[in-house]
Amino acid sequence: MSDETTVSGESAIQFVEVCKSFGERSKRHLVLDRVSFSAPRGKTTVIAGGSGQGKSVILKLILGLLRPDSGEVLIGGNNISSMGYKALQAQRTLFGVLFQGSALFDSLTVFENIALPLRERTKLTAEEIRSRVAATLEQLELTGHEDKFPAQLSGGMKKRVGLARALQLEPEIVLFDEPTTGLDPVMTREIYELFVQTQKRLGYTAVIVSHDIPQIFTLADQIILLNKGELDVFTDASQIPFSTKPNIREFARLVMGQQTA
Ligand SMILES: Nc1ncnc2c1ncn2[C@@H]1O[C@H](COP(=O)(O)OP(=O)(O)O)[C@@H](O)[C@H]1O
Ligand SMILES: [Mg+2]
Repeated sequence: MSDETTVSGESAIQFVEVCKSFGERSKRHLVLDRVSFSAPRGKTTVIAGGSGQGKSVILKLILGLLRPDSGEVLIGGNNISSMGYKALQAQRTLFGVLFQGSALFDSLTVFENIALPLRERTKLTAEEIRSRVAATLEQLELTGHEDKFPAQLSGGMKKRVGLARALQLEPEIVLFDEPTTGLDPVMTREIYELFVQTQKRLGYTAVIVSHDIPQIFTLADQIILLNKGELDVFTDASQIPFSTKPNIREFARLVMGQQTA
């Protein structure tokens, strides 16, 4: 197996020749065509591509919500295709997810939203929960807002609460699906900087799906581009126009406005 896509030694997530298609045989739509990549442990990987190119499908494959038609999806070296229901459930506790819109509960306060995973999934006492949530509120600059309801928060603050909640169970891998939807460019930049700082402090593996191109590239340890079934991996955005893959060069030309080689 080739390991040329790994940035540093160990990979948290690995796709090996993964194919995924949808639909009936006659009008089958091939979304991922033998794609391979690794997400290095403890680093930030950004997945970018146009709408409908399969970015969310990749996250669902990582979570085991979808299965590949062929190829392997490995999480911490374990092939999720060969896992049963129980093992998959156990595997999911490794993940924190922050999807579009933050998915906060409107009828719960900031504190209650963040405390929810701890109340539902751990046996911590009320006092332990209170101190854990307080620590996260401080880290994400939310102290003083704990009694507010989501409707009273700015867009950026909602994203921070969503991140705080996603981090409560101390995940090893955090997945973000277009987490800046609805934010203006300045707020988008601030939120990404906070994400990266938080990732560096806590050390989890981050996978961020984004269409905030090219701003997001400066925050990534690794960039994965997806276009028309092809995927290419970069550690340096300046190399993107020189991809050996025609569909990726096309994407660079269209989205980054750069001349391709
Ligand atoms: N469960 C599904 N059933 C059928 N088609 C799907 C399903 N999930 C995704 N697709 C198709 O796969 C393609 C990629 O979808 P998606 O990963 O959501 O795109 P995006 O890159 O915008 O996140 C789209 O054409 C979408 O219609
Ligand atoms: Mg999507």
